[in-house]
Amino acid sequence: MKPAVLVTKRVFPEAIELLRRHAEVEYIDSDDGLPPEELLRRSCGKQGIVSQLTDKLTAERLAQFQGVRFIAHVGVGYDNIDVAAATRCGIMVTNTPDVLTDTTADLAFALLLAAARRIVEADHFLRSGQWRRWSIDLLAGHDVHHKTLGIFGMGRIGQAVARRARGFSMRVLYNDTRRAPEAIERELELEFVEKDRLLAESDFVSLHVPLTESTRHLIGAAELAKMKPSAIIVNTSRGPVIDEPALAEALSKGVIAGAGLDVFEEEPKVHPVLLELKNVALAPHIGSASIDTRRKMCMLAAENAVAALEGRRPPNLVNPEVLS
Ligand code: DGY
Repeated sequence: MKPAVLVTKRVFPEAIELLRRHAEVEYIDSDDGLPPEELLRRSCGKQGIVSQLTDKLTAERLAQFQGVRFIAHVGVGYDNIDVAAATRCGIMVTNTPDVLTDTTADLAFALLLAAARRIVEADHFLRSGQWRRWSIDLLAGHDVHHKTLGIFGMGRIGQAVARRARGFSMRVLYNDTRRAPEAIERELELEFVEKDRLLAESDFVSLHVPLTESTRHLIGAAELAKMKPSAIIVNTSRGPVIDEPALAEALSKGVIAGAGLDVFEEEPKVHPVLLELKNVALAPHIGSASIDTRRKMCMLAAENAVAALEGRRPPNLVNPEVLS
C-alpha cells in the first residue's frame, strides 16, 4: 500500500500528479486553508504534509500529529512552522529555495521603482481623468539611478536585488548577521556597514531577512527616524519585520518619503492608514508569484516529499539535525 500524504491547499496540478505516483494523496483543492482542528484530523495516518504560508504549524499542533514524518512546505520562508518543535517531534521540514530568488528580487525592484517614480499614483491620476496638461513637476518622483540602496539580509534574494541595483549604477550597502563571501562582496561591489549607517546613508532600504525573533520589528519608529526624509523602504520579506503602525505614522508625517510593500503584519489585513497614503505602492504578498516560479515551487515541494517518502534525504531539508 502506498503511504499517504495530505496537501493542505491548492497547488499546481503537476505537483499532485508527481505525488500521486508515490503516495495516496488527500488533496484539499481549495485556497481556503484548513482550520487547525481539521488539519489535525486529516493529518491522521499521513506520512507527510505539503503545507503553505497560511498553515500555522505551532509547537502545540505539531506535538499532536501522529505518524507525520515530514512537512514539505511550498515557500522559502517557513516562519509559520515551529521548526525546533518539529525537530523535537522527529518531523523533517523542507522549503523551496533558489527557484524563487530572481522572481522575488524582480518584485522588490518593481516596488522600489513604483514607489520612487509614483507609478501607482500616476496610473490612478490618469484613469480618473485628472490629466489635463503636461506640466514641469507633474508627478515628479525620486531618481533611482546612482542612488544608494541599503539591503538588510544579503542571502540569495538580497544578492539578486544587489545585482539588479548594479544595472541602475547604484551604490549598495548591506547589513546582515554575517558578512557575505568576499567574492560576492567584490562581484556586486557591496559595502558591509552597521545598521545605523545603512539607515542614515541609504536612499532606498530593502528588507531580505527571514522572520525570526531577532528580526521581528527590525524596523520600528527609532529606525525610521534615522532614515533620510527622502528615503523609500521596500519590504518583500515578512510583514512583522517592520512595525506596521510605526511605518504608517512615519509615512503620514513625512519622516520618510515612501514605501513599497508586498507583506504585512497581519495578512490579509493592511494598516488602514497605509491604504489611504499616496506615497505607498502595495501588493498582496506576490513576491514569488510568476506562473513559472509558483509552478517550480510546487514541484520542488513535491520532489522534497517524494525524497522523504522514498527514505532519501530531501534536497531542501531545513532541520538536518532531525536525522541525527
Ligand atoms: C516564500 O516563499 O516565503 C513566499 O513569501 C511565499 O510564501
